[in-house]
Amino acid sequence: MKKEVKIKAFPQEAVPKMLAWYEENKRTLAWREEPTPYRVWVSEIMLQQTRVEAVKSYYLRWMKHFPDVVSLAKAEEETVLKNWEGLGYYSRARNLLQAAKIVMNEYGGDLPCDVSELQKIPGIGAYTAGAICSIAFGKKEPAVDGNVLRVVSRVNAEAFDIRDTAVRRGVADVLRPLMPDGKTSDFTQALFEIGAMVCKPDDGYRCEDCPLRFCCVSYEKGEQSCYPVRPQKAEKKQKDMTVFLLEYRGKIAVRKRDNKGLLAGLYEFPNEEGFLSQQRVYEKFSACGVPLPDAKHVFTHIVWNMKGYKVELQHPLEGMFFVEKKDLLLSYPIPSAFAVYKKIALEI
Ligand code: ADE
Repeated sequence: MKKEVKIKAFPQEAVPKMLAWYEENKRTLAWREEPTPYRVWVSEIMLQQTRVEAVKSYYLRWMKHFPDVVSLAKAEEETVLKNWEGLGYYSRARNLLQAAKIVMNEYGGDLPCDVSELQKIPGIGAYTAGAICSIAFGKKEPAVDGNVLRVVSRVNAEAFDIRDTAVRRGVADVLRPLMPDGKTSDFTQALFEIGAMVCKPDDGYRCEDCPLRFCCVSYEKGEQSCYPVRPQKAEKKQKDMTVFLLEYRGKIAVRKRDNKGLLAGLYEFPNEEGFLSQQRVYEKFSACGVPLPDAKHVFTHIVWNMKGYKVELQHPLEGMFFVEKKDLLLSYPIPSAFAVYKKIALEI
């Protein structure tokens, strides 16, 4: 038996208000035009952990390369990763590719229109299945993301644990009967939009513009910033490392990361743990290291603190590819964690 959490009812009278507000205020976004199941699916995967503004250009580029399931299913993994470069959480891109193949082989090329069936596909969980069903198939299946949880928690002044999947299921159960015939897409996206545009996180709420103010308990009590209750986050691990831009005859060294773990299978500039002194760099490469700017990259569970050196080698080194600068840009998926050094590599 799945755990059940009782969630307060969401006010029925909020629904026409939020739909009318959405009609007036919705942003023009590429995935809202022609919302086919494939286009909605890709947009929802991109929008997980990534802001709308950042997704826009990636989405257009992706659709140019992979306009449908057929073209994605046929693509090479490295091409797919290259088109994902910069969005982070690369397992999302790998899952999309694997899923496209499954959709071709097992579903005749069309995504299924059933939430349980959709959740058998890699990378599609309850949220994405709900989004695809309600936005592309017109089904009464809520999609409960962080925006929706924030709106519901504030309207009802209810302090539930937003990380708990039973809470998410409970919120979906409360919203499902409110979804109007023929307006399931607007219902889902109105809640996203209110969460993103007016009922913003922390102290960013703009209640004066909110269509739900009239029924919002936390607004009435002046307690908007108390909801949702966010559990304390664990401290992130810090990792100090030294990154090397190794140049040999105008080419730059890259190497492939391990096929397991963080940024699996992507390419990187050679690096090692710890901050190396200029002296140590000289001993390691028998050449002078010119210090580069420091960089920092914050992942979900770890922070990389990076120092960098540029080194001009007299000999190539084993285990690395020396690549033309234009190929750094065009052919090798290099994660954003190395963006500072990639930019420098392209300039030197
Ligand atoms: N965030 C997640 N899905 C979204 C959508 N369809 N529109 C806007 N923001 C979103």
